[in-house]
Order: sequence, then structure tokens, then C-alpha cells
Amino acid sequence: MTYHKNTSLFRVLVLPGSLRKSAFTGLLIRAFDQYKPDYIELCHADISKLPVYNQDLELPEPSFLKEFKDQIRSCDGVLIVTPEYNRSIPPVLKNALDWASRPQVAPGTGVWAGRPTAVAGVSPYSLGAFGAVHHLRQVLVFLNMPTMQQPEFYLTFAIDKFDDEGKLIDNDTIKHIQNFWEHYIAFSKKILAIKK
Ligand code: FNR
Repeated sequence: MTYHKNTSLFRVLVLPGSLRKSAFTGLLIRAFDQYKPDYIELCHADISKLPVYNQDLELPEPSFLKEFKDQIRSCDGVLIVTPEYNRSIPPVLKNALDWASRPQVAPGTGVWAGRPTAVAGVSPYSLGAFGAVHHLRQVLVFLNMPTMQQPEFYLTFAIDKFDDEGKLIDNDTIKHIQNFWEHYIAFSKKILAIKK
């Protein structure tokens, strides 16, 4: 595995699909952080600072885009945690994926390409953001981001899974997160070995 800059850390960029202060997305990200292996470091992308995508702003490359791309390059992998908006991806998440994909030289060759990626959906309702996750997977194919297929992750009825302080209290979900990380590391090892 290509550990980051001679440290034992494997850096994972976290992209959230919600900016809301008390978002279930944020609570789930916090739980992913709490139950990750020690050698994983999460690096949080502040996608709230990106303007709405406009091709007129692409060139010369604006500083916010250079900084965002540098942050992506400084990470080994990507974890996307997202709710669903109208059976699809929240625009703030698509906006971030779109910005860093530009300007496009050739399909699948940008900063996203080749980074082992994991996707988790979260919803207060029964489908666990299934629609958003699958629209997202389609986008990740075009961006050439190898994405873990199994285990899948859909957190349903999120309101029942956290206590009043936002702590994850559902034991099955805790076990699922630990298992998810284990599989993600095995998946990343394969992907990065193939890339080398
Ligand atoms: C939603 N919500 C929603 N939920 C869902 O399960 N499927 C859906 O298609 C939608 N559509 C939708 C559209 C829009 C514009 C909003 C604002 C919300 C509800 C959504 O799951 C809920 O607001 C979550 O709490 C949003 O996630 P965070 O912000 O808590 O992470």
C-alpha cells in the first residue's frame, strides 16, 4: 500500500453530501472516524467554499480549485457519505466532484482517477439513500474512481441510530462500520498494488 509520505497513515479524503450543522451525514462521518483503524487518517474536504460550478471560472485555475485538488492529491483514498435528494445526489457533492474533474484533459485522467473509493448512504427513512448511492456510483465510473462494491452501506432510519449527543448507539451499525473499514483496506491494497 502507498502509505502517505513515509508515515504509517493511510489518508482518506471524506466528502460529505450535506453541509447541515446537525446532519445525519456528519454524525455518520463522526462514527466512521471513531471506529476506523488507527492507521487511517481522515482528511475533511470543506466543499462549502466551492462556488456553484461555472465553466467561465475554470481558467486560469482559481486558487480554491488548486487548493482542493492539492488536498485530493495529498490523500490515498476517498470516502463519500451522502444523503439522498429527490432520489439522487445532493448538488453540493456533485459540485465538488465536478470542480475537481476540471479542466478535463481526457476522460478518467483527473485527480480523482485511481483513488480507492467507498460510498455510504444515510437517510431518516427506509431506503438508506439507495438512489443517491447508485447515481453516485455512475458518476464515479466516469471519473475512473475504483469503488468498493461490497459491503454496501445504507444507514436507514438514522434518527433511531444516534443518541441526543449524536453518538452512534446502534451496535449492528457499529459492527458494519468496522467491517466496512476492514474490507475497504483490503480493497485499497489490491487497487494500489495494481496501480503501481
Ligand atoms: C430530502 N430527503 C430525502 N430523503 C430520502 O431518503 N430520499 C429522498 O429522495 C429525499 N429527497 C430530499 C430532497 C431534498 C431537497 C431534501 C432537503 C431532503 C430528506 C433527507 O433524507 C433528510 O433531510 C436528511 O436529514 C438529509 O440528510 P442530512 O442533512 O441529515 O445528512
